[in-house]
Order: sequence, then structure tokens, then C-alpha cells
Amino acid sequence: MEKLKAVLGTKYPIIVGPMAWISTAPLVAAVANAGALGVLGVGFAPNNVVLDQIQHTKLPTDKPFAINVTISRQAESNLERVTEIAINNKIQFIYADNFEGLDKNLTQKWFSKWHRNGIKVITKVSTAEEAAIADQCDADVIIAKGWEGGGHMTKVGTMALLPTVVDATKKAVVVASGGIADGRGYAAARMLGASGIEMGTAFLPVLEGDFHSNAKKAVLSATTENLVMTGYSTGAPCWQIQNNLSERLNTIERENSPVQAASKVANLASGSIRVAAQEGDTQNKGAVMPGQVVTLVTKEKSVAQTLEDVYNQGIKILKSAANLDELQ
Ligand SMILES: Cc1cc2nc3c(=O)[nH]c(=O)nc-3n(C[C@H](O)[C@H](O)[C@H](O)COP(=O)(O)O)c2cc1C
Repeated sequence: MEKLKAVLGTKYPIIVGPMAWISTAPLVAAVANAGALGVLGVGFAPNNVVLDQIQHTKLPTDKPFAINVTISRQAESNLERVTEIAINNKIQFIYADNFEGLDKNLTQKWFSKWHRNGIKVITKVSTAEEAAIADQCDADVIIAKGWEGGGHMTKVGTMALLPTVVDATKKAVVVASGGIADGRGYAAARMLGASGIEMGTAFLPVLEGDFHSNAKKAVLSATTENLVMTGYSTGAPCWQIQNNLSERLNTIERENSPVQAASKVANLASGSIRVAAQEGDTQNKGAVMPGQVVTLVTKEKSVAQTLEDVYNQGIKILKSAANLDELQ
């Protein structure tokens, strides 16, 4: 049995990562039913929203799913609150991201608490140092997310990052993330030492999600060339499809010092992912935020088809590579 499938209890060694305002109950339940692990991206939402999303995920599936949190000293009261909800609702996985690097004491405290309550720990890292800390604190799964990926941008590309995370990890199962949307990416991740993959961008336009049709269209027609980076002044830059909002954000960041730009950018960008994902404004106030692999995402498919295509193509490539005559 492949290591990641054994830890997750899934058909595929694949995680569909949390995406704010996008990985809601319909998508997470569809991912679970199709044989992968989905993550509810609701870690900062108020209690009633988190509970409602958990309930709506559990209606169409009895398979496990995860809920996301952010490990941070400033967010400890939020960690407390979401942990209590996870325990009370028998959530089997907590998915912990971080924005400021993993502090060992804080990480140990929360990982131990989740484990004591029977919850498995998946954590996302962007450096080998963070991977070593997560591993020492007994993470079950460590996701190495590279610069190409959607959501908050990391510093090192997946190809360079992943082997360093594999080397720094002694116990946990390593997962590759960032820039993977087909079987070629899956095969490459396995060759670099990962036990499986996480994807986000490839699941933006799936049939089952409640991502607005305007935003889906924007993703399906965009290429990597259409992406710009916004928000570097805030310390949490993202890729987004160039539009009127990104032009305004980039102008502010060009014409002001980072300190001056940060609050203006935060004000303007706040809520923009929701405005695009739920209201469908992809031009003026909304931000559509796929990762660099967006060029490969050209068809609206079901979750099951997307998973099957990636996995089957990946396995075929790995099997044919094993039989290459030219490798003597
Ligand atoms: C639109 C979008 C929103 C995201 N929001 C979050 C988030 O709220 N929290 C998080 O930990 N990761 C977030 N991510 C990152 C994904 O969970 C995943 O790590 C990433 O998408 C993988 O890279 P890929 O986009 O190249 O597949 C987001 C990704 C996308 C595309």
C-alpha cells in the first residue's frame, strides 16, 4: 500500500488543498467521494459558518476530510476555537498552514493536542527547516509547497524545494505541491521522493464546486503569462490573473514604499478572492488566483475525472520509465 494512501485512507495519494471561499462543502464532499482528501478552507470563518460547512460536507459523504488552520502565535485563540469544533465533530485531519515559519514549541503544543484527540496532522511547509520541525513534532503528512502554487506564494520552486524537504523528513509522509495538474507532475513528484501530491489550481473549474462561472471561465482561458504577483508589500504575495484590481494594486506597490503600500494594498485586496469566487466580479474588485500551472487547466471536468486523469497518466509514465530500454 502506498504510504500516503495508508495515512489518508483514500483511493488516490492525492490531497486537494484548502482554497479560501472555494474549497467549500460541495467540493470537499465531491473530493472525498471520488477517493482523495479534501480540505474545508474555513479556518478563520465564524463558528456558525464552520459548523454549517462541516454539516454540509457530511451530508453527501461518510468519508474523511480535513479542516484548515494557521499555526501562529497571533492566531492561538482561533486555533483553540477550531480545534474544539474539530474534536466535537470528529474531524479526522487538521491541515495546518503557517505564514511566519514554524515555531517548534508552538508546533509541538498543537500537534500533540491534535494527536491526543485522535486527529491526524497534515502541515504545509515552504522550507526544509520547517519540514524538520514539523517532522520532529510528529506531523503525519508534510506538504512541500513550491513558489508556483496558488494561494500565498512561497519562495522556492517545487523542483528545488521538494528534495530538500524529503531529505529533512525522517518519519512523516512527504507530499509535493505547487505546479502540478497532470500525470507528468504526479510522476515527477514521485521521482523526487514525494509519496503523493496536493493540487489546488486544477480543481478551480471542476463541475461540482460552487466557484462562480465567471471565475471558472477566467481560469480556463488564462495562461501563466496572464498572472501577476500582488501583495508583496504585505509579506503575503499571491499570483492572480491580471485585471483592473491587480493593476491598481501593482501601481500602489510600485509608487509607494512597502510600509506605505502594505495597508493600502490590504484594504483594497481584502475580500477580493470572495468577490470573484462568489459574486463573479473578475475585473474590478475581485481577484482570481490560480497558480502558475493554470495553462494546463483548460477543461471543466468532474472531480472524479480530474483525479483519475492525473493518477492514471502518472502511473503510466512511472511504469514506462521503469521499462526504458535506453536506461542500461
Ligand atoms: C485560489 C486559491 C486559494 C487558496 N487559498 C488557500 C488558503 O486559504 N489556505 C491554504 O493553506 N492554502 C490555500 N491555497 C493553496 C492550496 O491549498 C494549495 O497548496 C495550492 O493550490 C497548490 O498549488 P497549485 O495551485 O499549483 O495546485 C489556495 C490556492 C488557490 C489556487
